Amino acid sequence: MTQIIGIIGSGLVGKAVARLAVAAGYHVVISNSRGPETLVGLVQELGPLARASTVEEAIESADIVSIAIPLATFEALPTEKLAGKIVLDQTNYYPGLGEFRRADLDNGELTSSELVQRHLRNAKVVKGIHNLGWIHMEGNARPKGDSRRTTLPIAGDDVSAKDAVTRFIENIGYDVVDAGSLADSWRIEPNTSIYFTPYTPEIPEGLTEEEAKKAYKQPGEPLSPSEARKLIETAERPSPIGGTLESMPPVHVALFLELASGDTIKK
Ligand SMILES: NC(=O)c1ccc[n+]([C@@H]2O[C@H](COP(=O)([O-])OP(=O)(O)OC[C@H]3O[C@@H](n4cnc5c(N)ncnc54)[C@H](OP(=O)(O)O)[C@@H]3O)[C@@H](O)[C@H]2O)c1
Repeated sequence: MTQIIGIIGSGLVGKAVARLAVAAGYHVVISNSRGPETLVGLVQELGPLARASTVEEAIESADIVSIAIPLATFEALPTEKLAGKIVLDQTNYYPGLGEFRRADLDNGELTSSELVQRHLRNAKVVKGIHNLGWIHMEGNARPKGDSRRTTLPIAGDDVSAKDAVTRFIENIGYDVVDAGSLADSWRIEPNTSIYFTPYTPEIPEGLTEEEAKKAYKQPGEPLSPSEARKLIETAERPSPIGGTLESMPPVHVALFLELASGDTIKK
C-alpha cells in the first residue's frame, strides 16, 4: 500500500486531504509556500502520522504528491523534483476569480490537468479529489461497505498511477470511477454535472443564512459508481470553460468568504 502522502498546499484542500489521509493510517508530509514553521499547529492537530516540511522534502518522501495550490501558481511546482512521481492534481481552473486566465484553457485546447502535466513533463499526473468543496471532502467520506459511501471520478494517462490514486481515494472514504485520460478530464471539470452538486445537500427554502450554512455542511446524497459513470458519459463541455463564484452554491461562497475575511484559511 502507498504509505506516504506528500501535500503541497496547506489551505482548505490541503488540510482536508491531510485529515482524511491520517484518519486512514497514511503518513502525511505537508508543506506550503511559507515554510514548515507555519504548520506547527496543524501538525499537532493531525497527530503522530503527520509532519511539516519544505515543498522539496514533501515531494522526496512521498509515494503520492497532492497538489493543493491555486492553479495560477502551477509554474512554481518543481518539474525536476516531481519527475517520476505520482501527482494527484486537485487544482481547478477558476478564471472567474480574475487572477489567472489562459487562452489555451479558455478555448479547450488543453484541460487544466493537461496544462499541469505539460509543466510536470515526467510526472504521472492524475486528476482527482477536485470536484467537491473542502467541507464535503471530509464530510462525505465513508468506509467501504457503508451505504452512504459516495463516488469520486479520476482521470489520467498512466494506468499504474491511476491504480495507486484509486487505492488511496478508496482507503480515505470513496468509491472511484475512471473518467479517462487527462484530455478527457474536461468531463469532470468545473460546471459539469459531476462537479460539486452531487456532493452537496439540498438546502430547504426559507432558512436564515446561518441555518442554510449549517444545513450545507451536511453530506450530499450518495452517488453510486454507475450514476457517476453516467454523469461522466453524458457530460457536455461547459461554455465558457472554467469556474466562477456565480456557478458555486451561494452558501458555499458565503462560507468561503467568511473564512477568508477571518483570515483562518491558512492557519
Ligand atoms: N476550496 C475548495 O473547496 C476546493 C475544492 C476542490 C478543489 N480546490 C482546488 O484546490 C486548490 C487549493 O484550493 P484551497 O481552497 O485549498 O486554496 P487555499 O486555501 O488558498 O490554499 C492554498 C495553499 O497553497 C499554498 N501555495 C500557494 N502557492 C504555493 C507554492 N508555490 N508552493 C507551495 N505552496 C503554495 C498556500 O501556501 P501558504 O499557506 O503558505 O500561503 C496555501 O497553503 C485550488 O486549485 C482549488 O481550485 C478547492
